[in-house]
Amino acid sequence: MKLVFATNNPGKLKEVQEILPNSIELLSLKDIGCDEEIEETASTLEGNAQIKANHITENYGYNCFADDTGLEVEILNGEPGVYSARYAGEPANAENNMNKLLNSLKTKENRKARFRTSICLNLNGEQFLFDGICKGNILTQKQGEKGFGYDPIFQPEGFIKSFAEMSSNEKNKISHRGLAIQELVKFLKDFK
Ligand code: IMP
Repeated sequence: MKLVFATNNPGKLKEVQEILPNSIELLSLKDIGCDEEIEETASTLEGNAQIKANHITENYGYNCFADDTGLEVEILNGEPGVYSARYAGEPANAENNMNKLLNSLKTKENRKARFRTSICLNLNGEQFLFDGICKGNILTQKQGEKGFGYDPIFQPEGFIKSFAEMSSNEKNKISHRGLAIQELVKFLKDFK
C-alpha cells in the first residue's frame, strides 16, 4: 500500500519509515509532486492535521496522514500550543520562541509543560486520529545542542537531560511524536 506522510521533513520521514511494515510504501509531499503551501488555519492541533491530510486525499487521491505538534505550558493555559512554531512572530525562529517562553516564565514556579502531537489518518475513505503526549518541565535556561525547536528548554519527566541532550533514538522512544507514530503504526499493522 502507498501512504503519503504530508511532510517534507526528512527526519520525520525516516523516523516513520523505520518502524512501518515493509508492505507500506511511504511517500513524501515531494514524491507526489505537491509543492504548494498548505495553510494551517485551524485553532487546534487536530484541526491542522486534518486540513493537511484532507488536502492531499482530496487533491491527489492518496491515503495520507499528517501531524501537528504543540508545546502546551500549564501556567500559560496551554500556550503556545497550536501557535508553537511562530510564538515570537514571523518568520518562525526557534531561538526567539525559546527566549519569549523563558521570559514569560521568569517569575513562575510552575514550569510544567507537555508536548502533544496529533496525527490524522485518511485511509480508504475513513478518518482516524492519534495522539501522543510527552510530559515534562521548562528549564530556566537552554541546555544541549541537538534536536530542534524548544528541545534545549524541555526536560521530559523522569530525566535529568533536556531533549537537546538526547540522541534522536533516545528522544524518539519517549517523545510525543514517537508515541503518536507508534499508535499509528500499531493501527496500520492491525488494519484489515
Ligand atoms: P510541527 O507541527 O511538527 O511542525 O511542530 C510545530 C512546532 O512545535 C515546531 O516548529 C517547534 O517549534 C515545536 N516542536 C514540535 N516538535 C518538537 C520537538 O520534538 N521538540 C521541540 N520543539 C518541537
